[in-house]
Order: sequence, then structure tokens, then C-alpha cells
Amino acid sequence: MTPKILPQKEDNRPIGVFDSGIGGLIALTALAKALPQEDLVYLGDTARVPYGDRSPEIVKNYARECVQFLLDHSVKLIVVACNTVSAIALSEIEKISPVPVIGVIKPAVSAVSAVLLTPGYKKIGIIGTRVTVQSRSYEHEIYKIHGQAGLLIYAQACPLFVPLIEEGWHEDPFIYPVAEKYLRPLKEEKIDALILGCTHYPLLRKVIEEIMPGVVLIDPAEEATKQTVQIIQQYASQNAYKERQIECYVTDLAPTFVRMVNQFLGVSPEAIRHVSIG
Ligand code: DGL
Repeated sequence: MTPKILPQKEDNRPIGVFDSGIGGLIALTALAKALPQEDLVYLGDTARVPYGDRSPEIVKNYARECVQFLLDHSVKLIVVACNTVSAIALSEIEKISPVPVIGVIKPAVSAVSAVLLTPGYKKIGIIGTRVTVQSRSYEHEIYKIHGQAGLLIYAQACPLFVPLIEEGWHEDPFIYPVAEKYLRPLKEEKIDALILGCTHYPLLRKVIEEIMPGVVLIDPAEEATKQTVQIIQQYASQNAYKERQIECYVTDLAPTFVRMVNQFLGVSPEAIRHVSIG
């Protein structure tokens, strides 16, 4: 395995973030807010989204290519915003990356651990893409820490959520019957907490809260951001006296991406660069 080079204090290299598409912009926005001095490089593999219905081998290949792209941009740390990639390709990425890699699964499971401290809380739900759910990566990580005794985990793939959100329908009344159908089995099990195990799902937070009131919602991107902030503040802050840069690269100039990156981060369409990888 390639040894990890932990970045040093006053490290002015950017942080790299990648996702299969637009969903990772939510993580990027959280990072940009939490670390206002840090330069950021984002890669959205918009030409090949969705990853969540592809075979694990294809996803691993795509992930390696995204990581190489970020390494070629001299990043000091890589945030894998994509749950599907984090679920099945994190160890492959760690093998090829000389810089630290933060996926979304372990940070989300730390939040699960906090929930499980509440007396009587023992039922956890997970929603994600087909690949993420079939990998059982969240379950493995939770069981590794907490064991299986007394803990009940229910997972549900929600493949229609991504295209509906990409269509901008996350606040449309049309999303409710779809969400109700996917969430019904978890609701019937009376889960205590639900992992929003896909980059896009935090955009459905309001809808899910209405359908499942009282359930603790865990956003893996938010948790991964907390972990990134800790590492950066401990080892690798940027020089605070310069203006920060956010570079956005996409493998296809998808209109939704252009709109969202402008809405979330104020990055102008002209500043988004179209690249080929792989
Ligand atoms: N980024 C993916 C995830 O978090 C969702 C979109 C896709 O299927 O590529 O799992």
C-alpha cells in the first residue's frame, strides 16, 4: 500500500472532492463554508453518472480515474463525496492515493454511534443507491463497531430519487408518493435514525422529515465535512492571507450542474471546465 503523506501546517495545496455528478456539490458547499481559506478542486463525473446502478468493477475503474485526476491537480487530501464509491471502492482508492482519503461511510457511522447512545435507540435505517445497499458497507461498518446484538438495521435502495432530484423535482409534490413508497417499510419498522446514504438525498430532508417525523436523519456529507475540518485544522491549514479558489471540473457540461454550482457556490458557468478523464 502507498504510504500516506500527512500534509503539514501551512500547506497551500487544494483539497480535492469528487462525485459521480452534482450530488457532491452539497458536500463541496459544506466544506467551502467550514473551511473558508481552503482552495478546493471539484470533479463531477457528469458524463458517466449514475454510478449507483453500475457493476462494482466499473465503479472502481471510474473511481480510480477520478482520483488520478485530483492527484494530477496536486491535492493534499481527497474527499470521496459519492456514497456508491465510498461503499465499494474506498480501499482501492486508499491503495493508490499518497494523500489521505476521506469517504462518507465511516464519518456517517460515527454519527450512528452518537445516536445509539440514546437509551432505547436501536433501529437504524439506510437508504442509498442499489450498489450502496447491495454492498452492505454501512451495515458492516456499524456491526464492526457495535456488534450485532440488540441492533436492527434496515436498508432500502431508492433508485428513482437520483433522477428526480437531477430533474429538480425534490420539492415537487410529485416526489411525495415516491418517497412514501420507498420509506414505508422503514417507517413500519419504526426506525430511530436514518442514514441518507446518497449524495443527493439531503435535498430531500424536508420531505423525509414530513414522512418520518421524529426520526434522526444522518447526512454523511455533513459528517465527512466535520472529519475533513478536523484533519485540515490539525495538520494542513492554508495560508490565511490569500483569496480562496474553487475549481470545478466536469466530464459533461450538464445544465443542472451549471445551475447548481452557481446557486450553491456562486461559481459562474464560464469558470466550470469540461474535461475528459479515463
Ligand atoms: N453520487 C451517488 C451516491 O452518492 C449518487 C448518484 C449516482 O448513482 O451516481 O451514491
